[in-house]
Amino acid sequence: MALPHLIQAAHTASPGVVPTPSNAAGGASAALDIPALRRALGQFGTGVTVIATRTVSGEMVGLTANSFSALSLEPPLVTWALRLASHNLAVFDAADTFVVNVLAEAQVDLSRKFATHAANKFEGVAYAPNAQGDPLIHGATAWFECRTVSRQTVGDHRLFIAQVDRFTSAEGAPLLFHAGAYFTLGSQL
Ligand SMILES: Cc1cc2nc3c(=O)[nH]c(=O)nc-3n(C[C@H](O)[C@H](O)[C@H](O)COP(=O)(O)O)c2cc1C
Repeated sequence: MALPHLIQAAHTASPGVVPTPSNAAGGASAALDIPALRRALGQFGTGVTVIATRTVSGEMVGLTANSFSALSLEPPLVTWALRLASHNLAVFDAADTFVVNVLAEAQVDLSRKFATHAANKFEGVAYAPNAQGDPLIHGATAWFECRTVSRQTVGDHRLFIAQVDRFTSAEGAPLLFHAGAYFTLGSQL
């Protein structure tokens, strides 16, 4: 099937000009420019999480993820996606449960640490295991204890849908991610 013609942003609008799809785009193209697509997707600012679980032998594993999203309130469902190339794919496929640690602004080093591949990312990290043995990281702003209800391979990712069994939230500002960089919360509009 031929790819649909898709508009892609090749440059940004001039200063003082309100950006619109027509003045911000280089035109229609049959083939998507993947680096440009990545930049455009990066315009969608997100929070930052460390999603973590334990292996059958009890080791803690986790990774930095911003694909986490709320999906449904009744029933309480969340979603996230894991790259098929992740070293953690087999572990998350085998695990019934995982936790989502929503990082606080003071946890940027933790985010960087969990965004690299290392044998034991939890070494030196303060956490408490929940009833399932999954690690709840100290200092986060919210914790969602989840049970996977659906796994699907979609493109180059595994899409997880999970039920929230338990959650806790704390006071404190979240760590934010936008255009490939970390930010703290600005002023309320
Ligand atoms: C802000 C941020 C968000 C990320 N979000 C995801 C994500 O949602 N899914 C994913 O598979 N990788 C994501 N990554 C990349 C992983 O954190 C990175 O590939 C990590 O090394 C994976 O762990 P592993 O190498 O131990 O498998 C993200 C990285 C950063 C910095």
